[in-house]
Amino acid sequence: MKIFVTGSSGFIGFALTLSLLKKGHKVHGYDSVNKYYDVNLKYARNKILKKFNNFKFTKGLLENENKLKKTILKFKPNIIIHLAAQAGVRYSLKKPRTYLSSNIIGTYNVIEIANLAKVKHLLIASTSSAYGANSKSPFSEIDKADRQLSVYAATKKATENLAHSYSSLWKLPITMLRFFTVYGPWGRPDMALFKFTKAIIKGKKIDIYNNGKMYRDFTYIDDVVKAVELLIKKIPKLNSKKRIKNDSISSVAPFRIVNIGNQKKVYLKNFVKELEDALQKKSTKNFMPMQKGDVKLTFSNTRLLKNLTGFQPKTSYKLGVRKFIDWYKSFYL
Ligand SMILES: NC(=O)c1ccc[n+]([C@@H]2O[C@H](COP(=O)([O-])OP(=O)(O)OC[C@H]3O[C@@H](n4cnc5c(N)ncnc54)[C@H](O)[C@@H]3O)[C@@H](O)[C@H]2O)c1
Repeated sequence: MKIFVTGSSGFIGFALTLSLLKKGHKVHGYDSVNKYYDVNLKYARNKILKKFNNFKFTKGLLENENKLKKTILKFKPNIIIHLAAQAGVRYSLKKPRTYLSSNIIGTYNVIEIANLAKVKHLLIASTSSAYGANSKSPFSEIDKADRQLSVYAATKKATENLAHSYSSLWKLPITMLRFFTVYGPWGRPDMALFKFTKAIIKGKKIDIYNNGKMYRDFTYIDDVVKAVELLIKKIPKLNSKKRIKNDSISSVAPFRIVNIGNQKKVYLKNFVKELEDALQKKSTKNFMPMQKGDVKLTFSNTRLLKNLTGFQPKTSYKLGVRKFIDWYKSFYL
């Protein structure tokens, strides 16, 4: 297949692109390689991808409609996987406009061009943060989700709505991927596991929000990659006779939302304990109040993913944390 991946220099985009290249697909990556976090990490990821003959890369902004259009129309992909975005809940308190630009205008451009390019399937990254203030858990795709708590989450939810409208108008098949706290080797330096690891090694304090009374559904990167690869072939169909139980598929568009999570809520304190054990070093904790815009719990129901693909993420955080630490040490120490 010819697959266009936005955000290929990012954490998930890199891991997915690498796996697709190894399977022999032709991949064209597109990324602005922005400075939201250490660009050296992004360059190091790019360097690995560029070793493959079946990989091409364009550095560009999603907002640069002409460049994006030219690149996509020239490549003629069958599939587009749109992962580039301004991620991070906390940064969206400081720089909300960046989220509107990258996530809303940027995603609008991708959808518009995907439609023009008549791709078979467009897959777009969304987030568990879209569930916002929902208290019923585990979170299911068919639950109402209209009380987002951060600008990040609001822009992601907005792209789901935008994507639905395009899918309904032009019958463009779209799957929204609601990722739950993805972690693992080559991960994101702005996320807890990365920050905690760096601080513990340096003997610095780690910030623990809501006094540690937080739960996250930590999902290992390899499981995420596998889930996305399997979903590529699960093209949503309008009025499909084969109904799946609790399917989130739209009744008026070839559009579906799928959770990609580990179906476990892990207590933050236990997660930190595991990290300390793996590093063989205790942390010093700086207990903080609940951070504005954050949610106390994420917890996925992934039965839809299982029904569609036969697969559910299952890597335990104990194993995943150790794999992350091994990579971190080999890369930084
Ligand atoms: N990692 C997670 O836990 C998680 C959880 C939920 C959702 N997501 C979503 O998954 C996707 C991938 O996340 P990630 O963790 O790999 O993040 P990441 O920040 O590592 O990767 C995103 C990439 O997009 C690029 N980018 C950002 N804005 C751009 C723009 N305007 N134009 C072009 N390129 C741009 C960045 O340079 C970066 O390389 C994002 O859409 C994110 O919102 C991630």
